[in-house]
Amino acid sequence: MNRIVCILRRLPVTQSLAAFALLIVATGGAHGASIDADRPTVLITGSNRGIGLAFVQHYVAEGWNVLATARTPSRADELNALAEEYEHLLIEQLDVTDNERIGELAAAYAGTPIDVLINNAGIYGGAEEQTLGSLDSRTFHDVMAVNVLAPMKMAEAFADQVAASGQKKIVSITSGAGSVSRETVSTGGAYYGISKTALNMAMRKVGAELADRGIVVALVAPGPTVTDMLETNRPSLVPRANTSEDTAAGMAAVIEGLDESYDGRPLSFDGSTVAW
Ligand SMILES: NC(=O)c1ccc[n+]([C@@H]2O[C@H](COP(=O)([O-])OP(=O)(O)OC[C@H]3O[C@@H](n4cnc5c(N)ncnc54)[C@H](OP(=O)(O)O)[C@@H]3O)[C@@H](O)[C@H]2O)c1
Repeated sequence: MNRIVCILRRLPVTQSLAAFALLIVATGGAHGASIDADRPTVLITGSNRGIGLAFVQHYVAEGWNVLATARTPSRADELNALAEEYEHLLIEQLDVTDNERIGELAAAYAGTPIDVLINNAGIYGGAEEQTLGSLDSRTFHDVMAVNVLAPMKMAEAFADQVAASGQKKIVSITSGAGSVSRETVSTGGAYYGISKTALNMAMRKVGAELADRGIVVALVAPGPTVTDMLETNRPSLVPRANTSEDTAAGMAAVIEGLDESYDGRPLSFDGSTVAW
């Protein structure tokens, strides 16, 4: 810290302030968290609750550096409590639909290898707004922006950091709700289902573009998991759903097993293949 203060003292006041602000960003806020170059690093979006938070809990316990992003860190109580406990957990503000902020974050971590980028943030959209008779255009665009475009923008922005890492993996969280080849399709959640089908193709396209950099771009599906999303939108599935801790541990094992033989198909948290 003394060395940093010395550098800041040598700069004019305006540059000092800018450099200090950048430093705060690059170190995940003011709580003194830091990246340890000897540990693998994972970046997780939507990490303040649900499956994203469970991913954070899993990876910090495994000794990883974790870049946990959340729309509103000041309200991410469980995440903030974890950060008190784990030195290598860095919390960063990120709304995944904010392209400018994605760019700022990628710049702040320009020299940091990121072994695994997990595009976890997702929304379902209101039920009525995606039902025939009351289809709402705004909701469609919102669901597509978070579930499809944002993972592409994250992959674009962080490709260099992933390519510079040891593991080189970009993982997006998909869903069986996006499978079009099933014999029957349930009613409800049309926009959500469409967005996950589109995410599957989006990641195949991103994977094709990044393959020559040695990056594996994968799709992993949690299966029904007890979170706010499931409880609000598919409550009938709750009794047979897994806990977010079990789901995150299962998906982390699948992610660990990914290598260059991965063929682009969505994998379930138990390692089985999810139908297209
Ligand atoms: N739960 C399941 O059964 C299930 C099944 C299949 C697939 N999935 C997928 O798993 C992923 C996680 O879902 P979940 O069940 O954990 O859902 P959740 O409990 O509703 O959590 C969603 C997370 O995404 C974040 N998020 C939403 N919009 C965002 C934005 N614009 N920018 C940044 N973060 C944003 C939320 O942050 P805020 O707190 O700020 O809203 C929250 O952290 C999603 O991609 C979902 O589609 C879940």
